[in-house]
Amino acid sequence: PTTRQYHWTLTETELNPDGVWRPMLLINNQFPGPLIEVNEHDTIRVVVDNQMTNSTAIHWHGIYQNGTNSMDGTVGITGCPIAPYQSFTYEFRVTGQSGSYWYHAHQGMQASDGLMGPLIIHSKDGKQLQQIQYASDRIIMLSDHYHDLTGVLSRKYLAPDMENAEPVPDGALINGRAIRNCDDLPHRRCDNTTSNVGIPAFDFEPNRHHRLRIMNVGAFAEFQFQIDEHELAVTEVDGTDVQPTNYHRLNINPAQRYSVIVHTDKRERTNFRMRARMITHCFAEKNPYMVDSVQGIVRYSSNSGSTAAAELPNTIDWDEAIGLECKDLNTTELVPVQIVAAPQKADAFFYLRSNFEIGAYRLSRGKFNTSSWRGDVKNPTLFRSIDGLQAKNASFDAEPDDGAVFVNDRAFNQPTELTIQSSGIQTIDVLISNFDDGNHPYHLHGYKFWVLAQGHGYPPRTSLDRAMDLDNLSPLYDSLNLSNPLRRDTVSVEAFGWALIRFVADNPGAWAFHCHISWHAEAGLLMQFLTRTDLLIDSEISEAHRELCRADGLEKGMGP
Ligand code: C2O
Repeated sequence: PTTRQYHWTLTETELNPDGVWRPMLLINNQFPGPLIEVNEHDTIRVVVDNQMTNSTAIHWHGIYQNGTNSMDGTVGITGCPIAPYQSFTYEFRVTGQSGSYWYHAHQGMQASDGLMGPLIIHSKDGKQLQQIQYASDRIIMLSDHYHDLTGVLSRKYLAPDMENAEPVPDGALINGRAIRNCDDLPHRRCDNTTSNVGIPAFDFEPNRHHRLRIMNVGAFAEFQFQIDEHELAVTEVDGTDVQPTNYHRLNINPAQRYSVIVHTDKRERTNFRMRARMITHCFAEKNPYMVDSVQGIVRYSSNSGSTAAAELPNTIDWDEAIGLECKDLNTTELVPVQIVAAPQKADAFFYLRSNFEIGAYRLSRGKFNTSSWRGDVKNPTLFRSIDGLQAKNASFDAEPDDGAVFVNDRAFNQPTELTIQSSGIQTIDVLISNFDDGNHPYHLHGYKFWVLAQGHGYPPRTSLDRAMDLDNLSPLYDSLNLSNPLRRDTVSVEAFGWALIRFVADNPGAWAFHCHISWHAEAGLLMQFLTRTDLLIDSEISEAHRELCRADGLEKGMGP
């Protein structure tokens, strides 16, 4: 194992990813940010020099941070942000996981303004777990794209008396690139002749298998991804290798990742369209300047790079080619290569109803049950827990002697901020009902969970509000297959639907659980798990990190 060191300078600058100039936040002047590529068991050390006028924090999405919770980069939960013109070094080891991950700012909406990039972990047996051997390994990042800074958009979105209509994107990007016709956007400063702008084109050697790591790194939109005339064999889901399963089209929600293997075996032609279409039916507002998709090119060639091309080939959409025969990704069919059975029974069960409400002051807030998160930028949960536990603070008087799980609604400043707390190793079930008319991709930090069941409408039991009672859940639990369910870190819960997830709470720390639609997390659709409190120790938080909390300007960069 080695230490991989990165030096990042974060700046505010202007960029025209699709031709339209806009203010952006960049890492080392790159968009998307630089690739972090390591082997399992390596240590990642990233020196982040914040040269922006806002504070920031970087989160490593999907990384376990076992023993390094304070490096999780979650403002208000695991640490303080890096104030303007300050720097901080993140350092953590990646063990027990491999595959496709990413990193992004976890402060306000900064990820959508440019602070994000890919993080790939290779493992010794990774190539075998990928059951199809491949000649090349590529990253395809899909993102919705706004022509305005998210700070500007969110002041409107979160303003009093607004319905929770998320700002509608202006377009979409593949690996930070697209091309707009500047004539369609007379109100914008636009130049589509610079070299970064264009149709994203990828070269692939013919007659080979190629691995594409598809990631949705956007703020809001679900994407449907496809390559004309090529089936996609899905082989990895959020870092879990799965047995190859073929699909024509792949739906992918924010923060999810899929590896697919594509076989370049066509004879009639050499250029094919890659299509990434945003699912727009939950876009509430009208944006007359929106284009709802971005297209790229798969180009058979002996090169292996990617460039900006000028013209799209005329290949036929799967939808037109085979219509109803199209096989769309169905994650319930996917089978992990490494068999890991879920525990037979959970120690605790929680029912979360997620919703949006026009609450006090008529602010539109996202809620789990009655809880809506705001967070305290100077007093992150982890610090409060450790300091409190150390002093045997009265706020933790509910802490039982041995392992237990309970809802702690008193330990933190805001009684409305839901925290589920556990000591010892506990198996926790969370049943999430989505009472909203859009999908929510729910992400748990620090863990992968098993997705045990999901469905439409109400979960199969009516009066769940009263149920913390495991013995009374039989209809839901009757037909579960626990032998090897899919493990992932971001599950999409469909509109007016539900999902049941299970995880073994064995990782010490404070872990966010939230909707990964950035607008929703900003509106408070976030709660926390504080797990293995019996192992939280003071030495985990460095003096440098405590120093961050004392700096001025921490609240700059928070949402309104
Ligand atoms: Cu991608 Cu709270 O994280």
